[in-house]
Amino acid sequence: MSLLPVKQLLASETTGHTITVKGWVRTKRESKNAIFIAINDGSTIHNLQAVAEPGQFSEETLRLVTTGSCVAITGTLVESQGSGQKVEVKATDIHVYGTADPEKYPLQPKKHSMEFLREIAHLRPRTNTFSAVLRIRHALAFAVHKYFNDNGFFYLHTPIITASDAEGAGEMFRVTTLDMNKPPRTDEGDIDYKQDFFGRETNLTVSGQLEGELGALALSKIYTFGPTFRAENSNTTRHLAEFWMIEPEMAFYELEDNMNLAEDFVKTVIGYALEHCADDLAFLQNRLMEEEKSKPQADRSPMPLLEKLAFVVNNDFQRLTYTQAIEILLQSKPHKEKKFQYPVGWGIDLQSEHERFLVEKHFKKPVILTNYPREIKSFYMKQDEVDESAPGPTVRAMDVLFPGIGEIIGGSQREENYDKLMARIQEVGIDPSNIWWFLETRQFGTAPHSGFGLGFERLVLFVTGMGNIRDVIPFPRTPKSAEF
Ligand code: 4AD
Ligand code: MG
Repeated sequence: MSLLPVKQLLASETTGHTITVKGWVRTKRESKNAIFIAINDGSTIHNLQAVAEPGQFSEETLRLVTTGSCVAITGTLVESQGSGQKVEVKATDIHVYGTADPEKYPLQPKKHSMEFLREIAHLRPRTNTFSAVLRIRHALAFAVHKYFNDNGFFYLHTPIITASDAEGAGEMFRVTTLDMNKPPRTDEGDIDYKQDFFGRETNLTVSGQLEGELGALALSKIYTFGPTFRAENSNTTRHLAEFWMIEPEMAFYELEDNMNLAEDFVKTVIGYALEHCADDLAFLQNRLMEEEKSKPQADRSPMPLLEKLAFVVNNDFQRLTYTQAIEILLQSKPHKEKKFQYPVGWGIDLQSEHERFLVEKHFKKPVILTNYPREIKSFYMKQDEVDESAPGPTVRAMDVLFPGIGEIIGGSQREENYDKLMARIQEVGIDPSNIWWFLETRQFGTAPHSGFGLGFERLVLFVTGMGNIRDVIPFPRTPKSAEF
């Protein structure tokens, strides 16, 4: 007798031997001659069916086998009589580890809304949809490490508690030590900041980039992959307060090399998911198709999920400058006679409607926009030589825009010239003494270098076809949810 995951049991080449399956009951169906119990252990989207003869087990045992209960069923693995599965278990022993009172268990075998499932984040991994998303998320994370390892990058662990604001956007969560012997607030109700990180002002990192640059200027090619935090109060389907970011940083890479890497990287990891998560993706595709039926024709996705993923893997991304994109947007009307909600003009921060117009309506493929106006981008980006076609100064930035998502990657070539970087830091009002260590890399052996950040949840969102970023991370942290 051996204990194997359901995934392996379902793929068994031989039958007739005794096995034990352990997992959670999805459904129990009774007919005159047999009781069918569908068991799932999370190893695959598919259930293993156990068949029990009614007289063989006590009524008490069978009564306890309900949706959500946890069981171990031992029996003979036999060819299945039913359609849909090759093998099933003819049960000889049923052990119930944990019951799930049908009156109380919230996950009954019916369709639950995503909103409802978000309220029971502690149980939703037991649903087909979420277990599929979580397995795909795992596969993508593995593919990320594999890609960089295969290409000579070193995984650099950057700090989560940091004194720097990498994006200079000030959207940070502050770290405070609470001394249980002292009240955390002053008599006026203000937070007592003397209780900061051992006397220093620190925050949760918004990006590992600045520390990543230190790594690249020693190891040549590094990447980070860790949690990042943004205190922006954005209640959208694309923003989280805590998300995972992948940030490669490469010495001797210019903007063009950076774009080539970004494109090859996303195509490779999506290709990995297509190859290794076929069952889960097919399940999610069917789910989406069902959902689409209730939408008006115009809102339906033009391609089924698997086709959309294959399209991205097999086609070149469209590359153009911000200035060229603005020209296109100025000449375009997104919906018949209606204009964009946010007016277009050189210098604006592109809104999601603009990005999605370019990707979904104009080019109909992923887009890489480059050379953004200096004023709307971060202080560390390399300044362009004067470009006659652009109305103002630009930087060597690149954003990768995806259908249904908008910005999935943000990156740039970095300013490696000490004087230019120092001037920019002072211009935007950053205190140089706070990032003296960053500036020193430009004084000692500076080198051209580039990097980018991919929001991992936005990638998972794209690959799974889910509609809300809260549904692709096990425990979403948003302004309205941080239950546990
Ligand atoms: O464009 P961002 O802010 O760039 C950086 O942080 C750079 N330091 C990256 C680098 O060059 N190393 O963020 C990068 C990506 C975005 O393109 C987006 O995919 C994701 O991170 N992102 C978010 N994902 C979920 N929720 C949020 N609140 C996000 N903010 C950014
Ligand atoms: Mg960005």
